[in-house]
Amino acid sequence: MSTLSDNIQRIQEELRLHDRAMASSSCGITIADALDPEMPLIYVNEAFEAITGYPVPEVVGRNCRFLQRDDRDQPGLYTLRAALRQGENCTITLRNYKKDGSLFWNELFTSPIFDSAGNLTHFVGIQTNITTRKTAEEQLVQRTTELETTLRALRSTQAMLVHSEKMNALGQMVAGVAHEINNPISFVNSNLHSLRRSLDDLFSAYGKLETLIRAASLPEMLAAAEVIRKDGDLDFLQDDTGDLLTASMEGLGRVRRIVEALRTFSRLDEAELKVVNLAENIESTLLIARLELQNRIDVETRLDHLPAIKCYPAELNQVFLNLIVNAAQAIQGRGKLTISGEEEPEHVVLKFSDSGVGMPPEVMAHLFEPFFTTKPVGSGTGLGLTIAYKIVVDRHKGTISAESTPGLGTTFTLRLPKDVEA
Ligand SMILES: Cc1cc2nc3c(=O)[nH]c(=O)nc-3n(C[C@H](O)[C@H](O)[C@H](O)COP(=O)(O)O)c2cc1C
Ligand SMILES: Nc1ncnc2c1ncn2[C@@H]1O[C@H](COP(=O)(O)OP(=O)(O)OP(=O)(O)O)[C@@H](O)[C@H]1O
Ligand SMILES: [Mg+2]
Repeated sequence: MSTLSDNIQRIQEELRLHDRAMASSSCGITIADALDPEMPLIYVNEAFEAITGYPVPEVVGRNCRFLQRDDRDQPGLYTLRAALRQGENCTITLRNYKKDGSLFWNELFTSPIFDSAGNLTHFVGIQTNITTRKTAEEQLVQRTTELETTLRALRSTQAMLVHSEKMNALGQMVAGVAHEINNPISFVNSNLHSLRRSLDDLFSAYGKLETLIRAASLPEMLAAAEVIRKDGDLDFLQDDTGDLLTASMEGLGRVRRIVEALRTFSRLDEAELKVVNLAENIESTLLIARLELQNRIDVETRLDHLPAIKCYPAELNQVFLNLIVNAAQAIQGRGKLTISGEEEPEHVVLKFSDSGVGMPPEVMAHLFEPFFTTKPVGSGTGLGLTIAYKIVVDRHKGTISAESTPGLGTTFTLRLPKDVEA
């Protein structure tokens, strides 16, 4: 049978065990008096001292808010006050300050303690210093943001590379083809001129022969010559071969202008900084885009008073082509594209206005993003305007913007400095 002193000894051992457990905890353990409105601390363990730097005797009898500074507008504190008022559990994270003033992140768990009659008498608080975790989390967030930025930059660089690679290959091919076509055009052209001279000579020699026959008063010969002229349809032949040659020369002239446009468009020397009149570049780009424009789009250019500017013409040609092709693709059936230019003191302003389908605000918001396209898979890469933006804004220090009314059309405005190096 246990005696009273046995019981006391057992209880003392239990208390010592609780004390040792509290003392060996790496978390701060605090008990506050809930019956006193100021809620002073009546117990803190050693870990609290280790976490906060405040010696135990210095804090007993004080409210725990001494760990706070001016930044008391923390959401956690509002939650805590409410929980203390209502006698409930709560877990919050607070910015607290050690005795030496340095900040630490405190994950605080508080819980009410009731007596055997069910009355609230105390609160227990458990403090964990989570600064290391919090710093790691913040670093992670920062790293993630950095990575996202890098990824965006990478995607846009990749877009540029893919496109400039494509344009380079295309440019070289076009330049090569244009060069190859140029030779035969030259000799066909010179042959056509020779042919015209030869035919003229031939018809004139034949005419002279007829005149001779007429002068020699040989009626039979003359009659025979007239039959030959009539049967051979010589009058018609003379007119017709003339017309055929004129038409062929005109056609050849057109081929020549297209080849010239191809060369202007892809000219490798125009990859360099040059002083050019953009009106010519736009006209040659329009010739290239002919297939897209077909006969369904009426193109009006108002570029007469545009001054020459110092720029990278080959790159701007790509911008023009992208804008013209986009406009053509936005026009269903027949429509109109107006390209106009204006001079400002330090800039030229170009406007590409189409009567196409226009764009809703949600498309406008993503217009210049790499790979943004509303076109079916395989039909658009979504790079046209990304490249245009890079070339105009990054390369030429200009601006590019769009205005659009759904159902009515779209206007792209380019503002380019007259001298990109100025
Ligand atoms: C048991 C207990 C432990 C507490 N521990 C902390 C603590 O570690 N850090 C802290 O900033 N506040 C702590 N508090 C909260 C403050 O004592 C106080 O309740 C809080 O600042 C809101 O009250 P106030 O607006 O009067 O300052 C604790 C409160 C209790 C009851
Ligand atoms: N003139 C325009 N009218 C209406 N929508 C346009 C016009 N220009 C561009 N857009 C919209 O902007 C999107 C992005 O254009 P962007 O030129 O960058 O790519 P894309 O034309 O779709 O593809 P890619 O040019 O690479 O073939 C288009 O898919 C289209 O929805
Ligand atoms: Mg496009």
